[in-house]
Formats: sequence, C-alpha cells, structure tokens
Amino acid sequence: MACHDFDIDDNSILSRIGDVVLSIIQQISDNKPPVLSHFNRSTWQNVSYDENVGLCVNDAMKMTSVRFDSKQSIKKFTLMMKLLSMVYGLIQTDRYCTKRDLYYQDTVLFGNQTALDDALENVSCMLHVPRWRLHVLATSKGCIAGDLSFHDVDGNYIDCSKTKSGIQVPSRIEGMQHIQTDASFVLVVEKDAVFQRLLDEGFCKTMRPCIIITGKGFPDMNTRMLLNRLWKEFSPRFFILVDADPYGIEIMSVYKYGSRSLSFEAPMLTVPDMEWMGVLPSDIQRLRLRNDSLIELKSSDRSKILDILARPYVLKSQLLYKELNVLLELGKKAEIESLDSISTSFLANVYLPTKLRYSFH
Ligand SMILES: *[C@@H]1O[C@H](CO)[C@@H](O)[C@H](O)[C@H]1NC(C)=O
Ligand SMILES: *[C@@H]1O[C@H](CO)[C@@H](O)[C@H](O)[C@H]1NC(C)=O
Ligand SMILES: *[C@@H]1O[C@H](CO)[C@@H](O)[C@H](O)[C@H]1NC(C)=O
Ligand SMILES: *[C@@H]1O[C@H](CO)[C@@H](O)[C@H](O)[C@H]1NC(C)=O
Ligand SMILES: *[C@@H]1O[C@H](CO)[C@@H](O)[C@H](O)[C@H]1NC(C)=O
Repeated sequence: MACHDFDIDDNSILSRIGDVVLSIIQQISDNKPPVLSHFNRSTWQNVSYDENVGLCVNDAMKMTSVRFDSKQSIKKFTLMMKLLSMVYGLIQTDRYCTKRDLYYQDTVLFGNQTALDDALENVSCMLHVPRWRLHVLATSKGCIAGDLSFHDVDGNYIDCSKTKSGIQVPSRIEGMQHIQTDASFVLVVEKDAVFQRLLDEGFCKTMRPCIIITGKGFPDMNTRMLLNRLWKEFSPRFFILVDADPYGIEIMSVYKYGSRSLSFEAPMLTVPDMEWMGVLPSDIQRLRLRNDSLIELKSSDRSKILDILARPYVLKSQLLYKELNVLLELGKKAEIESLDSISTSFLANVYLPTKLRYSFH
C-alpha cells in the first residue's frame, strides 16, 4: 500500500526535493527534456478500500508525467518547480504559511488559487509527503463546539464549551496539545446553518457530553484531521448528519472513507467508525415527509448516485448500497431542513434524541 510518510522530518523532505532537482539536472545534461512524475490522482484505478483506514492506493497506481517539452504540461511543470522552491525556503527557515500567502507571492504565475492548490497536491504526491508537512497550511473553515478543550500551537487555552457560535478549527492540528474531552459522542453536521441552530437550541447542554462540528459543506483537511485525531486518541462514537441527497452522501463518504484525490492521506484524515445517522433516504418514507418539502432528483443527481455505487467501499456497506437505491427509487431527495415540515423543533427535540437513544441502546 502506498501512503504518504507522515512522520518524515524536515531534513528528509529537503533531501527529497534535492533529489528531484538532481534528477532534472541529470536529464538536462543527458540532453533529455526534464520530466516530473507523480501518481495520477484523478482515476479510481488502483484505489482500494481498507476497512480500518479508508481509501488507499496500491503500489501499481497509475503515474502522471509532467513533461517540460509538452505544450499541455509546461505550465504545470513551471508551477511545480516554483512550488518546490517556495516549499524548500519555508522548510529551511522553519516558517509556515498558508496556501493563500503562497498564491499572493506570484498571482500572475499561479493565475488562480485552484491552480495552485492542485499543483501543490501534486507536489506533495510526488514527494510522498502530506501537504501540511511541507509547511503549507490551509485556513480552516470548520467550526467546533461542545465538550472539548486544548492548547493551540501558540499555547493559547481554548475551551469549546464556552462559545455561542462555534470556534474555528485550528489550522495546525498536529500542534494541538493537552486535548481534553469527556464527550461520549461527536456529531458531525454537514451544514453551518444546522450547526448554529443546534447550538442556539442548547443541543450540547441537553444531551450527554458531546462535541458538535461542521465542515460547512465539503470538509477541509483540518476538520478531517481533527476528527481523525479525536478518533485515535479518545473513544467517543461518531455520528454524521447530512442531507438525504447525493451531495450529502458524498460528504458523509469523504469523512468516513476518504476521497480519491487524497487517498494517500487517508490514515490521517478518515474516521472509519463514522456512523451515518441521517437524514437517511429511507427516513423520507418512514417519517412521511411532506411532498412539498422534497426535491425532484435531477439527471446529474442520478449520475452522481451511479458514480458512488461503483466505488470500492460500497460493497462493504449494505446501508450505503440500500440507501442509494432507495434514493433512486423514490426519485426525490430531502434536505436536513425538510424535517422542519413536521415541526421546527422536530430535529433537535425528537429526531436526534431518538436516533441517539437507539444507537446507545
Ligand atoms: C495534477 O495532477 C492531476 C492528475 O493526477 C492532473 O490532472 C492535473 O492537471 C495536475 N495539475 C497540475 C497543476 O499539475
Ligand atoms: C492497477 O492498475 C493496473 C492498470 O493500470 C491493473 O492492471 C491492475 O490490475 C491494478 N491493480 C489492482 C490491485 O487494482
Ligand atoms: C489519469 O487517469 C485518467 C483515467 O485513466 C486519464 O483519463 C487521465 O488522462 C490521466 N491524467 C493524466 C494527467 O495522466
Ligand atoms: C484557474 O486557472 C486554470 C488555468 O490556469 C483554468 O483552467 C481554470 O479554469 C481556472 N479556474 C478558475 C476557477 O478560474
Ligand atoms: C409531489 O410534488 C411533485 C412536484 O414537486 C408533483 O409532480 C407530484 O404530483 C406530487 N405528488 C403528490 C403525491 O402529491
């Protein structure tokens, strides 16, 4: 199984970058156009599923070549070389910066943030080193609240139980220290609006000790790393609440199984024990959700469902297989907010408490 080296030290990273540069010099002196190569992150080939880790790649993974003498890749080649030199500088001087800072150091070259992010993932893939080890941080968009306290990398004490609207997930998860929690469960919520509502309604106070967290849609790496760390160091149950639609199911899968493009980092990013609490497509029928609170599946939704059904982890999860088929049969999807059609307090006062009671039974 090919994985990134998570425990690699700074000097070894510097010497890997040195090796890449040496090989380029070697190719030039042999009169060959230089080529960089890294794993192809956009194919499911050779991505497999390990129940204890999530998505993984095996050693036969397809490689992508970035050639200096090809019109399509010369720009990519340039971006990757530029990033290698920036990263080298950061590591050598033991400084950290965000992806955004990197972008502003040469906006003309990078063009847009997405292009930089993509090239950076490829660099990290080429070096077999996770991005955060390259001293490049991403600003977190996730928020957390509940029974959790810790010291951040600067030594500040942070108590997540004393917040009205949630605390931003720190940008250096591995630098968090003295983490303390008595939470018996962690509830991951897809949407910020639902997270805020649960906080306003005092969800954390009325339930047994818990942590609630939202990645605000598709989760960023810091949010996923924090969950992974809580999973490894403590033993709460993990539940997730997402929309009963293909996008919600995709988000649930990313937390639980990992994503294809970051499958190298699954051991640091996934929570394989994550339990899909709701909203399940079968809840739509079971709770007889009102027709006018549902949305018709579009053809793009159907192709997304078929895409998920073909993934390596679906065979291991009867629930996922069954619920995806329920969604296809119904031809309708529901949002978490569709539960409001029953009553506005249904989610916090009935739905979640019932599911939790059942799970802890
Ligand atoms: C990154 O790699 C993917 C394939 O793995 C490729 O499609 C993409 O163009 C590459 N991007 C850059 C900027 O190198
Ligand atoms: C890996 O991919 C190659 C084709 O690129 C295929 O022949 C091989 O069977 C795959 N191996 C696994 C274990 O999926
Ligand atoms: C990555 O693999 C996919 C599927 O095999 C292919 O379509 C794509 O062109 C490859 N990307 C690169 C940059 O090689
Ligand atoms: C970013 O730039 C690349 C080319 O450098 C382009 O293909 C892509 O569409 C741009 N993305 C956005 C969101 O503007
Ligand atoms: C449900 O609503 C859809 C439009 O959203 C409509 O076409 C359908 O006839 C309705 N079904 C029932 C049973 O009311």
